[in-house]
Amino acid sequence: MIGHCSPNGQAKDHQGKIMNTTLREGIDWVGYVDWTIRDFHSYNAQRGVTYNSYLIQDEQSALIDAVKGQFADELLKNISVLSELSNIKYIVCNHAEPDHSGALPVVMESMPDATLVCNKKCQATLSQHFDTSNWKFHLVATGDTLSIGKRTLQFIDTPMVHWPESMFTYIPEEKLLFSMDAFGQHYATSRRFSDEVPLCTVIEEAKTYYANIIMPFSRQVEKTLDRIAGIDIDMIAPSHGVIWRENMSDIINLYRKWATNCFKPKVLVIYDTMWESTAKMAAAIHEGTSLPGVESKLIHIRHSDLTKIATEVMDASCIAFGSSTLNGGMMPMAGAVLTYLKGLRPANKLCFSFGSYGWGKGGPEAIDEYFKSMKWDILNESITSRYKPTSELLDDCRTAGKALGERAKQIAKDNTGENICINP
Ligand code: FEO
Repeated sequence: MIGHCSPNGQAKDHQGKIMNTTLREGIDWVGYVDWTIRDFHSYNAQRGVTYNSYLIQDEQSALIDAVKGQFADELLKNISVLSELSNIKYIVCNHAEPDHSGALPVVMESMPDATLVCNKKCQATLSQHFDTSNWKFHLVATGDTLSIGKRTLQFIDTPMVHWPESMFTYIPEEKLLFSMDAFGQHYATSRRFSDEVPLCTVIEEAKTYYANIIMPFSRQVEKTLDRIAGIDIDMIAPSHGVIWRENMSDIINLYRKWATNCFKPKVLVIYDTMWESTAKMAAAIHEGTSLPGVESKLIHIRHSDLTKIATEVMDASCIAFGSSTLNGGMMPMAGAVLTYLKGLRPANKLCFSFGSYGWGKGGPEAIDEYFKSMKWDILNESITSRYKPTSELLDDCRTAGKALGERAKQIAKDNTGENICINP
């Protein structure tokens, strides 16, 4: 069961290798670890990124996914250590996003006899990224299989997890699922397996990945989880981060929880402030929300980042969001947070806005417009203060915060029956 931090990062090298890359006999990781990247299209990848590619050596060897374009040579080098490039007959493309497909032009040129295996939508997407006129394609759809010798590749379409053309590839003989972005993490490490690194770190990064990449597609995640429910899975190999060799049911259960808004009793007070008046209001609201059994967090927008804020928002049921009024609207980074959240579509939040103003209003009112556009339920009218908040107004903030905290407790209880959501 997940819920404790176990630094079980002991080396478990097989056959004396420094980095164990073997998933099963004849199946190896051949991807690239991007240690220094931090900005993954605005996602703050605080621990770096990996682009996972897998080589299956069989009568007709297959490569599962490629890597980002700039690392194509590293991919070919990793494959060459294990196999002649000419032995590879199939290259499976589970997902056409360039962090996995970018190396395909170099790979296809290096393996001119290989056939690219993907679904119809993926072929169309690849042809809009690259010149695919000389590529041989083998198109597949859910339920199709491809025998490569001792093993069979089975394909499962997973539309919108993460793009329309996304799919999983499953090897029944190995009980091994190649899950592409799903169950992945942005986590650069010299270890390849989840049981070789601290589990709490893997879960933290899997949660951050879900919140910032997968959350808008939670309904499709539910369908995908239903689709794989009957499959016997002993290992999940995603396209980012470490491979799940243990804790399979935990990460699948967490995906179900994140997809279905199984909220913790958790409140966020998120704010930006010009001259500390809105900060004082935020502190008073946070004080009110800090009830026994409630996890309450105070977040200054410019002391955090979009990636972290979105991750916190995902499993919070209740949110107070504040901004001082600046030029008749909210402060710019408050607008950036709400614009980002609107795209990620976190659902079923209870909220209210707050903030100070001077000679003209506009900050909290602009926040309320975002709340409405995201279909969040507004608990009460904005709490506003002309310039510095009075002690009476700060009492009002505490009272509103307490009401929000109590609602968070009730929502968590209603969600689970008896508040049994597993951490995180
Ligand atoms: Fe890792 Fe959606 O690409």
